[in-house]
Amino acid sequence: MSSEKNPIQKQPTIFFIFGGTGDLTSRKLIPALYNLYLDGWMPEKFAVVGMGRTLYSDEQFRGLLLEDLNNFSRKGKAEPKKWEAFSSNVTFQVSDIKDDRTYEEQTNTIKKLSSAWNAEPCIIYYLAVAPRFFATIAENLAKHKLADNPEKARIVIEKPFGHDLDSAKELNRLLNSLFLERQIYRIDHYLGKETVQNILAFRFANSILEPLWNRNHIDHVQISVTEQLGVGDRGGYYEEAGAMRDMVQNHILQLLCLVAMEPPVSFQADEVRNRKVDVLHAMRKFTSEEIKKNAVRGQYGKGWVEGREVLGYREEESVNPESNTETFAAIKFFIDNWRWHGVPFYLRTGKRMHQSSSIISIQFKDVPHLIFPSEAIESWQQNRLIISIQPEMSIRLQVQAKRPGLGMTLNPVDLIFDYSGTYNGDSPEAYETLLLDTMLGDQTLFMRGDQVEAAWDLLMPILNAWSSKKSLNFPNYAADSWGPEIAEALIAKDGFHWFTLPLKK
Ligand code: BG6
Repeated sequence: MSSEKNPIQKQPTIFFIFGGTGDLTSRKLIPALYNLYLDGWMPEKFAVVGMGRTLYSDEQFRGLLLEDLNNFSRKGKAEPKKWEAFSSNVTFQVSDIKDDRTYEEQTNTIKKLSSAWNAEPCIIYYLAVAPRFFATIAENLAKHKLADNPEKARIVIEKPFGHDLDSAKELNRLLNSLFLERQIYRIDHYLGKETVQNILAFRFANSILEPLWNRNHIDHVQISVTEQLGVGDRGGYYEEAGAMRDMVQNHILQLLCLVAMEPPVSFQADEVRNRKVDVLHAMRKFTSEEIKKNAVRGQYGKGWVEGREVLGYREEESVNPESNTETFAAIKFFIDNWRWHGVPFYLRTGKRMHQSSSIISIQFKDVPHLIFPSEAIESWQQNRLIISIQPEMSIRLQVQAKRPGLGMTLNPVDLIFDYSGTYNGDSPEAYETLLLDTMLGDQTLFMRGDQVEAAWDLLMPILNAWSSKKSLNFPNYAADSWGPEIAEALIAKDGFHWFTLPLKK
């Protein structure tokens, strides 16, 4: 979240990416670093070292990266000259995370580059590996004194951070015994999205919102993150995760925190993170009776998506044919504090749904007294603020207006701030922002240890209830639908419906 141009240019930096041959590296991390390079946001002196067990030469490794970059970078295919210049800083280290020699070689690389650059570089260890390897790598980095200087060495941890509250606590305990909290960067890529960062700007850079942003004026809030894709080849991972661990525990609760947090005193990382964790602490932890009333789960069955027949979740690769894993979750949460008392927050997320879209809808209370005749208000809609995170990047304020004509007929219209119409050029990808922030040492958009634990703590009763009681009606929604009926009922019984935006053609 830099506000200064190029403060890192003069800071030599080394990235060690554990999991260098994985999809995350080639599809997200390398394109992000390359795009930062193109935009002048990389240090003048930098090195990227991919770490992995396969025997690759530097050339082979670069070739693999280039192939994915050409397919997945938001800027399209690489420009040969620029790629050559960038990738001359990229090397591969054959490594085994359990072997001391791996870390000795890293020590040598650091020594060599420090002397060539005549400077002590900033070193970023990016753990783009399965969570079961986090502890071994962290312990070895500490054992080999690779992260001893807290001003220069940082550890980036990908999600999932823990499988439940206990495992998250254990991982935090371990990391905090080896490094300082300010060296630990827990990634939640949603926080790097342009539209998500803008929630803070929108709320706290505009004076007209704050007076309305509370229980006196807001009726309810919806946060809906739906995906058209199924689990694809990630069945093995997803079986253990489900929608709650994959999306709610991190991304969706983070969105909720941004909407519900108190105004921070400053834009300091800890100040912002303190206000966010306050929200999690104020959220009502459910009893088993409340879980039945307020939380519903679903699993997709087979169906048709854009003229193509798709498998049900239980038929997907590496999925148990009798799986109890939820691919959909909807929950009505409450935040027990002065600002939000009595305002329901409805969250939903699911795979294989009719549309991929992430939307926050804030519905305001109705006018206190209606002066218009009933025929004028047939399409009446309470005011709504809609923050569309993706694919459309926009903020809309839905208001009532008079339809042109001789009679008095009202209908809802949108006051729209649309990124594509307002700004030329595309926005950086979440990983570009987050990698830059890692280099800058700015933790505002990263999860602090206590935040992760508070999110797990909130969800544990629901996770425990669902894992101990098998759902008898799975699959309960068809691919390409809006999820199970019970999710409609959850919100409809309060007189609302899930808000969706029409897809742009
Ligand atoms: C990841 C989840 O964290 O987020 C995936 O593991 C999910 O299952 C993805 O598809 C969604 O991210 P985005 O940026 O595509 O909305």
